[in-house]
Amino acid sequence: MNIIRRPRRNRQSAAIRDMVQETRLSVTDFILPVFIVDGQKVRTEVTSMPGIHRLSLDLLLEEIQECMDLGVKSFDLFPNIAESKKDKYATESYNPDGLYVNAIRAIKDRFPDAVVMTDVAMDPYSSDGHDGIVENGKILNDPTLEVLGKMALAQAQAGADIVGPSDMMDGRVGYIRQVLDEGNFHDVAIMAYTAKYASAFYGPFRDALDSAPKFGDKKTYQMNPANSREALIEAQLDFAEGADFLMVKPALAYLDIIKLLKDNFHLPITAYNVSGEYAMIKAAAQRGWLDGDRAMMETLLSIKRAGATSILTYFAKEAARLL
Ligand code: PBG
Repeated sequence: MNIIRRPRRNRQSAAIRDMVQETRLSVTDFILPVFIVDGQKVRTEVTSMPGIHRLSLDLLLEEIQECMDLGVKSFDLFPNIAESKKDKYATESYNPDGLYVNAIRAIKDRFPDAVVMTDVAMDPYSSDGHDGIVENGKILNDPTLEVLGKMALAQAQAGADIVGPSDMMDGRVGYIRQVLDEGNFHDVAIMAYTAKYASAFYGPFRDALDSAPKFGDKKTYQMNPANSREALIEAQLDFAEGADFLMVKPALAYLDIIKLLKDNFHLPITAYNVSGEYAMIKAAAQRGWLDGDRAMMETLLSIKRAGATSILTYFAKEAARLL
């Protein structure tokens, strides 16, 4: 047969395949999201996220030690707040002696080399379960910014390295940047949830935090999954307002958006491999329908191949073990 181009030549041995491999995962790519809850020695598995637990601070510190030993050094903290501490204005979110802020302080105290990223959004603390202040069934944009500013400032004061506004209010990156700079926190970075879609894949996360909206949905602030050009508008704004990272969320159903932002912006692009994406693989693996480890690594690799510089993923620890 006269076939001049034979792509299989570059696949014929493991060594050659390794040599031509374009994308490689590294433990340094990962940011592990962790769930913190009040109390001591508390370790409750999230039913819809096998292997992921809500941890009290003492056990969270142990978990972080294990991750650090595996080379995973970046963590994104999310709080499970008691219903009794939630209110309309999410005031607990900037309590200087609250669960969340104390956790940041304790982690940075014990692990100065770890990167602590925070979540800036009202939903875990809001009695309405929304990311903004609710008035007559509407989410108010500008008054919400004031709450987000207080939250980000409290987190910076506690020692956070990166704050992560996940709320999708307009103008929040610029507002938070200004508040941080006025507080002399010029070195605290902002990882903007730039293209965060109104997705069905956040379900297990809302179980973990008991943070589902009490009414309606998040479609007036999170993006329509049908749109990609709109992601460019969000990215332009976040860039102009001073974001240090642009994030796409979820990751798997939005690989094209990761690529789009990668091709058009020169900031690091982060992808959030969200709770529902984790749950799908875990559920299928538990039934023996998928090889869980292989599906996990292929998923993470695909996110990196699409253009992500780093990946927020609940698989971080497991993947680090395999790497
Ligand atoms: C809320 C927030 C959500 C996630 C991170 N921050 C959920 C939501 O918008 O309802 C989802 C993360 C995941 O599903 O893993 N500000």
